[in-house]
Amino acid sequence: MGFSNDFLWGGATAANQIEGAYLDDGKGLSTADVMTNGSHESGRRVTYTMPDGIRHSNLVFPYTAIPDEAVIECFDDEYYPSHTAINFYYNYKRDIALLAEMGFNCFRISINWTRIFPNGDDEVPNERGLEFYDKVFDECSKYDIEPIVTISHYETPLTLVNKYGGWVDRRCVDFYVRYCETIFKRYKDKVKYWLTFNEINIMKKHPVFAGVIADDAQRQAQAIHHEFIASALAVKLGHEINPAFQIGMMTAYPAVYALTCNPADQLKLMKEDQNRHFFSDVQCRGAYPNYKLKEYNRLGIELNKEPDDDEILKEGVVDFIGFSYYNSEVVTADKSKLNTESHNMYTTVLNPYLNNSDWGSPLDPTGLRIVLNALYERYNLPLFIVENGLGALDTVDEDGSINDDYRIDYLSSHLEAMKNAIDEDGVDLIGYTSWGCIDLVSAGTGEMRKRYGYIYVDKQDEGSGTLERKKKKSFYWYQKVIRTNGEDLSNN
Ligand code: BG6
Repeated sequence: MGFSNDFLWGGATAANQIEGAYLDDGKGLSTADVMTNGSHESGRRVTYTMPDGIRHSNLVFPYTAIPDEAVIECFDDEYYPSHTAINFYYNYKRDIALLAEMGFNCFRISINWTRIFPNGDDEVPNERGLEFYDKVFDECSKYDIEPIVTISHYETPLTLVNKYGGWVDRRCVDFYVRYCETIFKRYKDKVKYWLTFNEINIMKKHPVFAGVIADDAQRQAQAIHHEFIASALAVKLGHEINPAFQIGMMTAYPAVYALTCNPADQLKLMKEDQNRHFFSDVQCRGAYPNYKLKEYNRLGIELNKEPDDDEILKEGVVDFIGFSYYNSEVVTADKSKLNTESHNMYTTVLNPYLNNSDWGSPLDPTGLRIVLNALYERYNLPLFIVENGLGALDTVDEDGSINDDYRIDYLSSHLEAMKNAIDEDGVDLIGYTSWGCIDLVSAGTGEMRKRYGYIYVDKQDEGSGTLERKKKKSFYWYQKVIRTNGEDLSNN
C-alpha cells in the first residue's frame, strides 16, 4: 500500500524564479521582470512610467490598479531579482544532476513564454529560446526525469500588458494558443505532463502575476474568461497533437475552516468554498457554475463571450488537477475577529490550534489530507500536488552544513497526510513536487532568504553571493524518501 510504484517524486520551480539571463538569447521582458525585490514587511513593487514622464511603483500585494496608460518597465536603479535569479540558465546541467542524485523521477519547471515569443504577439518563435528547453528536457531524459511543464507561471510577456492591457484583451487567447502550438509540437516527444496556468485562481489577489493590471470586477471577470478559453483551447489542441499528453489545471488550494459553528461563519465558509472552487469547477466540469453566474448578475458583470465559448469550455476539460498546498486559512463573519495588525498575506483570522512559519503561514498537514479528499470527491480526477513546502531561514554552520530539521518535519508530516489520504481514503494521487527544490527567488517577496530547497544556493536578497550549491540535511532525507517510495519518512 502507500504510494504507487509509478508515483512521480520530484520538486517544482518556475522559470522566472530560477533562470536569470533575463534578456539573453533573444528573451523579452515578462511581468515577473518588472517586479522589484521586497521583504516580509515591505512588499514587492511593479515599476512604471506615466505619460507625463513621472515614475511610479505599486505594491504587488495588496494591489492597487496600474493605470491603463502607464508603461510598465525596468529602471536602472531598482533591483529585480528575476534578472539573475539563481542562474539556472547557465547552470542547468549541474542542477539537474543534483536533482537526479536525490532520485527525482520528475521535475516541474515552466517555460518562459518570453523566451519563445519575446513580445507575446510575435509571428515567429525565437529559435534560441526553443533550443534552451530542448537542452533542459534532454538533460532530464538522460536521468529518466519526467518534465512537468507549466506553460504560464506568472510570466506573461510584458508587451501584452503594455500594448493590450493583458488578458482583458481577447487577442491574448490567440497569442497563448500560438505559443502552446509551438511548444506542443516542438516538445511532443519530450514532455507528457503540462499545466496550463500556474495558480489560475490568484487573479483577484495578485492580478499582475496573472498578467492583468485592471482591478475592477468587470475587467477581471473578462480576463478570467479569456484564460479559461485559452486553457480549454490548449487542452484540445494538445490532445490533437499528442493524444498521450496529460494536460492539467493548477490551482492554489489551501484548506479553509470556519472559525466557529455559528451558522453565519458556516455560510461564510460556504461562500469561500464557492470562490475556491470556481476555477476548478469551470476547468474540470466545463461550464460556469450557477453560483458564479448569479454573482456576476448581481454585480452587473456581463461577460463578452463568443458564440462557441461554451462549447470550447466543455471540450477543453483537463485530464488532472495540479494544486499547491502550503497552509490552511480561517474565515468568520465576525469582523472583530479579523487580525488587522498582521502583515500576513495568508490569513486574516488566526487559528489558535496551529503554529505559523517564519513568514506567518499556518502549518497544517491535516489540512492537506482534507483538501485531497475535497478535490477528489468533487471531481474524481487524478490529483498531483505540484507545490508544497516550507519557506524558512536557513543558516550555514561553520562546517558548511545546513541542518534544516524544521523543513524535514514539515515535509514528512505532509507526506504522512498524503499517505493517509491514499491508504485510508482512497484518493488517486499521482505525484508530488515540493516547491523550490533548489533555493530560488520568492514570488511573494522577491527574497532569497525565504528558502524552500533541499539544495542551498549562496545568493542573498540584494543579489550578492557566489551562487555555489550546497546539499542541505533535507537533501539526504528526501533521497531516502524517494528510494523507499515514501515508506521511510523518518529524520535519521
Ligand atoms: C506559489 C507560486 O504561490 O507559491 C510560486 O506558484 C511561489 O511561484 C510559491 O514561489 C511560494 O510563495 P513565495 O511567495 O514564498 O515564493
